[in-house]
Amino acid sequence: MSSTMADVERGPETGRKTLPGPILLLGAPGAGKGTQAKELVKLWGIPQISTGDLLRAHVAQGTALGKAAKDVIARGILVPDSVVNEMVAGRLKEPDTARGYILDGFPRTLPQATWLDSRLAGQGEALPVIAVSLHVDYNQLLRRITGRRNCPVCQRIYNVYSNPPRQEGFCDVEGAALVQRADDTEEVFAERMRAYTAQTAPVVEHYRAHGRFAEVDGDGTIAAIAAGIVAAVGRLRK
Ligand code: AP5
Ligand code: MG
Repeated sequence: MSSTMADVERGPETGRKTLPGPILLLGAPGAGKGTQAKELVKLWGIPQISTGDLLRAHVAQGTALGKAAKDVIARGILVPDSVVNEMVAGRLKEPDTARGYILDGFPRTLPQATWLDSRLAGQGEALPVIAVSLHVDYNQLLRRITGRRNCPVCQRIYNVYSNPPRQEGFCDVEGAALVQRADDTEEVFAERMRAYTAQTAPVVEHYRAHGRFAEVDGDGTIAAIAAGIVAAVGRLRK
């Protein structure tokens, strides 16, 4: 029988209340990290921390960090570790992270992973991190990336092929005209995949070796994948 939200909250065997704690969502570009993070936010009431979204917010606001990151993101390569780590450190100080959080797209280099591991280890009683890697094949990823559209107001994620809005081109909730990310072209996707293979695949292996790790098939309905993640987290929090 699969675990449910209630299992994670209560702890299926002990009956004690268990918090979701820190969850890492790993996976290639388009694997569904953002989509699944939003499902888990609804279920668990803990925040999604997407380093990609934080960086894009800096770009939109024209901060110094955003000006430096804009070109890096557009090329499909990674922003320097020190910049991203500092951004995450600032976000993790906010009180809404006390019961846990979902890190979406972080860590994605080994130095980011070791930075996070030592930060968490220094926090004494904090729950150990659980890493979930979403697996989707290359052709499916490419279709997802080129078909993705986002609401610039509420950040909802759509897809012209698999998850279209009710009215083409407009957000179901905000009514705003949907936008396409500058890095969602086939060429930049290929570069992002190279960065993923060279720099982020070793992070997946790092957490696989670490134990509290699950690989979840990211090809299926959004609800079925979310249920798979919840079941994995329930098992790993026992
Ligand atoms: P980031 O924004 O993190 O991009 P990414 O990792 O490439 O991942 P995506 O956001 O493209 O995909 P996703 O897995 O979230 O998929 P989604 O749910 O949207 O990073 C962007 C850039 O910022 C990086 O290239 C780098 O420059 C920089 N950066 C960010 N973090 C960094 C870090 N830690 N260090 C250094 N640099 C960093 O889904 C994709 C599409 O598929 C959507 O259209 C969705 O509707 C659809 N979809 C989702 N699930 C399903 C499903 N089950 N079935 C069918 N379609 C689905
Ligand atoms: Mg994303």
